[in-house]
Amino acid sequence: MNLKADRKRVFSGVQPSGSLHIGNYLGAIKNFVGLQDDYDSVYCIVDLHAITVWQDPAELKENILEVAAAYIASGIDPRKATIFVQSQIPAHAELAWILNCTARIGWLNRITQFKEKAGKNREKASVGLYAYPNLMASDILLYHSHLVPVGDDQKQHLELTRDIAQKFNNDFSASGGKDFFPIPEPMILSAGSRVMSLRDGQKKMSKSDPSSMTRIELIDTDDQINRKIMKATSDAMLLPEKVDDLEVRPEAKNLITIYSAFADETLEKVVARFKGKQFSRFKKELAEVVVENMGPIRDEFIRLKADKSFIVKVLDEGRERAAEKSTPVISEVKLIVGLG
Ligand code: TYM
Repeated sequence: MNLKADRKRVFSGVQPSGSLHIGNYLGAIKNFVGLQDDYDSVYCIVDLHAITVWQDPAELKENILEVAAAYIASGIDPRKATIFVQSQIPAHAELAWILNCTARIGWLNRITQFKEKAGKNREKASVGLYAYPNLMASDILLYHSHLVPVGDDQKQHLELTRDIAQKFNNDFSASGGKDFFPIPEPMILSAGSRVMSLRDGQKKMSKSDPSSMTRIELIDTDDQINRKIMKATSDAMLLPEKVDDLEVRPEAKNLITIYSAFADETLEKVVARFKGKQFSRFKKELAEVVVENMGPIRDEFIRLKADKSFIVKVLDEGRERAAEKSTPVISEVKLIVGLG
């Protein structure tokens, strides 16, 4: 098996389920870029996860290409990192089934994202939505990944992945003597790992919120970015004197966190600069720093979106590389379990 590459492996994924926003960028994609030089990096477009809630088929197809364009526009270099589509590697679904048989129902019952997404309509949620974290474990374990950069909302899924890997290793320890799956480590950076809605500092910024005023999307023009930030909910006070004061002011905390992530400055430094100032003045500077960072990414994103043949070529090459990395693992899993 060719799993002894000297570089450790990074794996992560983004769902093609709507317009990407600065939460996805700051919480995940920006960190993918920083890892590609030092790790064997595998970045997936997780379309099988997207269909756990209904997707318009034509839009899904477009969204898959858009996530690839967003990865590249954000700085992921397809010559360094493997960019590919989950459903093009059937082993993801195959291993997910095997892991469905490893994971316990009690473990999945504790997953808060299912509770939030299914809401009161639990009985009507798809079985896929419930089993979603097992598919995510499959994505990660199929590549014998060591490190998984994600936003804070994925923490519980990562813990489940580690539990599944451990149980699989224990259940089948007699067959090989040695643990088969490495136990993956989450990488959740503090700056930007939890970007909140621009309209409600208690809610996560999300692709699925019906109002696009709650999020800054990758596709937004400079004017839209300005307008959304100027209209973002704040509170009636001046900006605080100390970072601790932000704890009871979620909207202020969110805007200052976004500034800090884009400007690459600590919260302390940002608070010290704007303390006692009006929100209107701060928001103007926040809009400037967001436009400065996101403007070039947006322009490149739009250019790449129009260059479909290039994106398709990247994804074809990615599929080949992903197959090379995952085929030995799924073959070995089947041998270990006694299948086929
Ligand atoms: P998804 O598509 O919801 O989000 C993609 C990445 O963006 C992060 N993110 C955020 N970070 C900060 N603030 C926010 N408001 C925010 N919203 C989203 C997410 O944490 C994520 O890192 N289950 C995953 C996709 C997935 C995956 C995987 C990730 C499938 N298989 C294997 C890692 C490894 C998801 O739904 O992400």
